[in-house]
Amino acid sequence: MTEPLYSKDIDLAPIRQTRLAIVGYGNHGRSHALCLRDSGVEEIRIALRPGSPSRGKAEADGFAVVTLDEAAAWADAIALLAADEAHRQIWEQSIAPHRKPGQALILCHGFSIHYKLIDPPADCDVILAAAKGPGGAVRQEFEKGSGLIGFWAVEQDASGQARELALAYLAGIGSGNVGIFPTTFREETVSDLFGEQVVLVGGMVALARASFDRLVQAGVSPRMAYIDCVHEIKYLADLIQARGIAGMYEAISDTAEFGAREIEDEIAGPELQAVFDKAMAAIEDGSFAKKWVETYEAGDAMKADREHDHSLPVEAAGKELRSRIYGATK
Ligand SMILES: NC(=O)c1ccc[n+]([C@@H]2O[C@H](COP(=O)([O-])OP(=O)(O)OC[C@H]3O[C@@H](n4cnc5c(N)ncnc54)[C@H](OP(=O)(O)O)[C@@H]3O)[C@@H](O)[C@H]2O)c1
Repeated sequence: MTEPLYSKDIDLAPIRQTRLAIVGYGNHGRSHALCLRDSGVEEIRIALRPGSPSRGKAEADGFAVVTLDEAAAWADAIALLAADEAHRQIWEQSIAPHRKPGQALILCHGFSIHYKLIDPPADCDVILAAAKGPGGAVRQEFEKGSGLIGFWAVEQDASGQARELALAYLAGIGSGNVGIFPTTFREETVSDLFGEQVVLVGGMVALARASFDRLVQAGVSPRMAYIDCVHEIKYLADLIQARGIAGMYEAISDTAEFGAREIEDEIAGPELQAVFDKAMAAIEDGSFAKKWVETYEAGDAMKADREHDHSLPVEAAGKELRSRIYGATK
């Protein structure tokens, strides 16, 4: 196993000396901008699309907001922290026509480079600086003096200093407090997509919804079914994060552990393996990425699905429960 690097091993000068444009002021963009400024990066501008709802927030945080074209002409490095599916458009319409030669490109997910949505010229450092986790957590952990585990990779090293810039960037957003590891664009992309599709989002949602429906079909009240199949996911996830799967099994009741061990192998049977194989094939051959970017570029992606979600009984049960527990209206 590769040993991690920590802040004590890393010189922040490469990022402190950089004129940095951050494209996008969403979860990652905002957190990175605030953390890097606190880490001594003095020249940061936020690049937003016309009419961006994030402009007010960036300005209230004290940053200069510029257009994408202006950012491309000004910056020594562009941190492209906009939605991945928009990277091709942003690159082709704004960055490529206006960029300074030698300008580094920094990403926090490998998607658009691995799938060649962007084809940067050879004069350019192309760097992955991925703090693994949701963007909001980058700032929350930084404020506690901690950070998210960081992974770095270099696809192109035109300057000969790309590694140093990647490490300085990650240290600047707090990852040096917990550990920074090397990876590749391919590994980070494939792992991230597969994990979110089959476990963290797709797998979890499929299990939660189908098990809720099955309990209700068996005559259980929607409220009780929601608690047992959806609401309590968080408690188990917290246990796994704190103690691992083996530790979670030690922490729960023996009845729950025995029941889970009885059925675990069956759930992970041949049908599930076939689903995994299909998802992995589409990730590896690029067909998932192609389909997603084409769907995005056609407009209104997932609008109908999002509206349909709210009509499902599982959502009504969750809403009712949250209103009882927290007085929440959503
Ligand atoms: N390393 C990790 O573990 C990890 C985890 C999560 C995400 N990420 C990566 O972080 C990056 C940003 O994700 P996020 O979670 O911060 O997303 P987010 O909160 O949804 O923010 C996306 C930002 O992209 C901007 N944007 C979208 N379309 C655009 C366009 N056509 N032109 C210009 N700007 C556009 C949005 O602009 P407006 O403000 O104008 O709407 C918004 O500021 C992505 O590359 C994502 O894969 C990495």
